[in-house]
Amino acid sequence: MNPSVLIVYYSRSGNTRKVADMIAHLIDCDVEPIVCKENLSGFWGFIKCAFYAVFNKFLQISKIEHNLEKYKVVLIGTPIWAGKISSPIRTFIDRYKDKLTRVAFFATMGAEPNKGIFRKINNTLAKEPVAILIISVKELKSGIDKKKLIDFITPIQDSSNI
Ligand SMILES: Cc1cc2nc3c(=O)[nH]c(=O)nc-3n(C[C@H](O)[C@H](O)[C@H](O)COP(=O)(O)O)c2cc1C
Repeated sequence: MNPSVLIVYYSRSGNTRKVADMIAHLIDCDVEPIVCKENLSGFWGFIKCAFYAVFNKFLQISKIEHNLEKYKVVLIGTPIWAGKISSPIRTFIDRYKDKLTRVAFFATMGAEPNKGIFRKINNTLAKEPVAILIISVKELKSGIDKKKLIDFITPIQDSSNI
């Protein structure tokens, strides 16, 4: 068990949860799923998500159960909505940014991976992520390359020992 790493993620339809579970299994660390208080399921849920993402809106999320200050590295996982991070994760970062020391990002998306998506969050957090991992839905279906996961978690493990 690595007590210095926490995974925080939001997943609307299960893809990001799958990646979070794989990473949690490899690192053996605590996990905190973000619970969104608004119903985002179904067709109208999809429309709401797209609207919130396009206009950089915040959403009501439940209080985090883990003490973020206890962790050396927090991994933040999100689906990509309209080319951006999902609104529940936008809300999480906005609310808790002062408690985040070192971060790493992972995301799932329908299209081919594009790391530029995280540039704007870096500006908000004013810190470089330790690592970034982006998985396409295609990769998720065909089986994620284990090396890609290892390349992602290695710098995280290293910086959680500092
Ligand atoms: C509202 C909405 C907007 C999306 N926009 C994009 C997008 O701009 N680019 C992309 O590659 N995938 C997009 N997707 C696909 C999701 O990123 C992809 O299905 C992701 O794996 C979903 O993760 P989840 O199952 O954890 O919710 C969008 C999905 C939703 C619901």
